[in-house]
Amino acid sequence: MPEGRGYQVASNNTELIEKILHVKRQRNAVILAHNYQLGEVQDIADFTGDSLELSQNAAKTDADVIVFCGVHFMAETAFILCPDKIVLLPDIHAGCPMADMITAESLREKKRELPGAAVVCYVNSSAEVKAESDICCTSANAVEVVESLDSEEILFVPDQYLGHYVSTKTDKKMVLWPGFCPTHVRIQPEDITRLKLEYPQAKVVVHPECRPEVIALADEVLSTGGMCKFAQNTEAKEIIVGTEIGIIHRLKKENPGKKFIPLSEQAICPTMKLINLEKMLRSLEEMAPEVKVPEETRLRAKVAVDRMLKVA
Ligand code: 13P
Ligand code: SF4
Repeated sequence: MPEGRGYQVASNNTELIEKILHVKRQRNAVILAHNYQLGEVQDIADFTGDSLELSQNAAKTDADVIVFCGVHFMAETAFILCPDKIVLLPDIHAGCPMADMITAESLREKKRELPGAAVVCYVNSSAEVKAESDICCTSANAVEVVESLDSEEILFVPDQYLGHYVSTKTDKKMVLWPGFCPTHVRIQPEDITRLKLEYPQAKVVVHPECRPEVIALADEVLSTGGMCKFAQNTEAKEIIVGTEIGIIHRLKKENPGKKFIPLSEQAICPTMKLINLEKMLRSLEEMAPEVKVPEETRLRAKVAVDRMLKVA
């Protein structure tokens, strides 16, 4: 059984894979997968990437159907950009707990307290929250997005740790929403200290959703797509990886000569692991569950997403 603490199903999936590829062709579908997905899902995807790369890919696809293997906000973002396409999320319960830590109503209330602040929302948020924001960002472009704004005061939602990381890279005044990723907060600074003793030559890369104490000890702070590029370009042969462990599958596959050590075996996002080959096949056969956004919300959210894509 490969990595993923038993989440991964046995690898004898040939028949299932053939069926998926057959229905995929019939539907003229594209399969997009996030870097945290199960290895079996990443392997069958047309494209695997981070949140920014996935939205850029969704924006330019000419497929009729997008099978989104990730979490709900990612599928929603694809629909915001491509309302003429059918966007499928093979398990509708695949949500992001961080995205649920803010609602449009609570954001409106905070905006009333800070009328001069520009609202930057991490893409890990609902379409309704994006619709209340001035601009979106992902972990790959958060600093550039904040720096691109005229306003000197920024209300950053919902990830306090990504917001804190950005605040160390800008002179702007940042007000941080108290959200966090339950998976990344499991990674502790002691994990780095322990693994550095075992692998003194290793480079440490961490995701900006990690706690500041973890970020302070890292060599690089990168989005998951940034980690994949770093792994290919670095001279280092050993890399300690501080993010959700699903990414290890791709890193190993693309860099057979290098060793990747998860910073914490506890860093598993349970909702990212809800999607598997069986659910992908059912979803393509039934053309459900479909993710949509009401048009009025979609148009407002699209302004924030388009502004980000221009900066990126
Ligand atoms: P990336 O955009 O870096 O892939 O991050 C998405 C995410 O949900 C991290 O937890
Ligand atoms: Fe959300 Fe964290 Fe899972 Fe990313 S890893 S989808 S931020 S809960």
